[in-house]
Amino acid sequence: MSNILITGGAGFIGSHVVRRMVKNYPNYNIYNLDKLTYAGNLENLKDIENEQNYHFLKADIQNAEEIDQIFKKYHITHVIHLAAESHVDRSISNPIEFVMTNVVGTVNLLNVAKNNWSGDLNNHKFYHVSTDEVYGALGSEGFFTEETSYDPHSPYSASKASSDHFVRAYYDTFGLQVLISNCSNNYGSHHFPEKLIPLCIHNIKNNLPLPIYGDGKYTRDWLFVEDHARAIDVIFHKGNIGETYNIGGFNEWQNIDLVKLLCEIMDDKLGRPEGNSEKLITFVKDRPGHDLRYAIDASKIEKELGWRPSVTFEEGLEKTVDWFLSNEDWLNNVTSGSYKDYYQKQYN
Ligand code: NAD
Ligand code: TYD
Repeated sequence: MSNILITGGAGFIGSHVVRRMVKNYPNYNIYNLDKLTYAGNLENLKDIENEQNYHFLKADIQNAEEIDQIFKKYHITHVIHLAAESHVDRSISNPIEFVMTNVVGTVNLLNVAKNNWSGDLNNHKFYHVSTDEVYGALGSEGFFTEETSYDPHSPYSASKASSDHFVRAYYDTFGLQVLISNCSNNYGSHHFPEKLIPLCIHNIKNNLPLPIYGDGKYTRDWLFVEDHARAIDVIFHKGNIGETYNIGGFNEWQNIDLVKLLCEIMDDKLGRPEGNSEKLITFVKDRPGHDLRYAIDASKIEKELGWRPSVTFEEGLEKTVDWFLSNEDWLNNVTSGSYKDYYQKQYN
């Protein structure tokens, strides 16, 4: 019996991974460990919360003792680690929290896994989910491969880079059976509206300004979150131990073009005249240390594991908009309370 600990399962990507694993693998026990920070939301998993193979554990990965007790009590055999502080802008205003969760929290997990699995390392796996932002920024050409040197610029990407290095160190030094993936920007349902796409959906819906940092020419490679969850499933089951896999959408967009496309889709869905929402676009002060362009070369995972994105950007964006428009309560709940304070501080 596999007892799989998924950390950060109440967050955006984690909830999609948990849902997929619970549904597709009824013979696995899935333990969703989450601290439920502002970004964690059990509403994200309402549809599967009563499944027999699903269990929720509220805990903080910064607390090594608590994590150790969980490993012992539930005989954890595998880890898929997604818990993190994940927003670049928040890492600029509060870098220490990022070090504590992303670095110290990850090392705690690695250490507890090593100690509990020692003597039988080959029957256990530790899969660390990371970001393409560890590679730094590209100019107008080229792609990040698995061999690209790390060059993080924000406190967020520096903390994720550090955690990746620790995961490799536990493989090299202790023989912990690890896997790492570095993925590009995700979008889809249950995305917290501090990130560009859900923030713009929320603001278009409410006729609020759409804040575009700098000149809007910054470029990201967007991947539908369910395709990321499928890639994680494939790597977890078939990936070669000790290896890194880049995951990307083959789908680069400058922020300004993406927001214009979103405005077009929203005008159509909301029955507004063409061009209406675009008027909300507002250029604002740039993000410090803003990375110009991210683009992933995902040929390794395609060639070795047969994974490719299955959803086009137009399909994925439309599905995403439909989800947000038909889940008003979810959006209202996450944008009340502390979100208002965050928004005020960030954009005023
Ligand atoms: P998210 O912010 O939506 O969710 C993070 C989850 O981790 C939340 O449920 C939160 O409660 C939990 N968490 C935070 N601190 C914790 C702690 N100390 N202990 C236990 N749980 C804690 O993040 P996301 O966008 O779903 O990202 C998930 C992972 O994927 C992260 O590791 C991130 O670096 C990585 N990633 C994200 C993207 C993206 O586009 N969002 C792209 C590539 C990689
Ligand atoms: P974001 O969704 O925060 O993801 P990341 O910083 O991890 O790539 O931002 C995506 C892009 O959109 C990035 O270039 C910053 C930009 N952006 C804005 O222009 N305005 C905003 O309000 C936000 C949140 C992001």
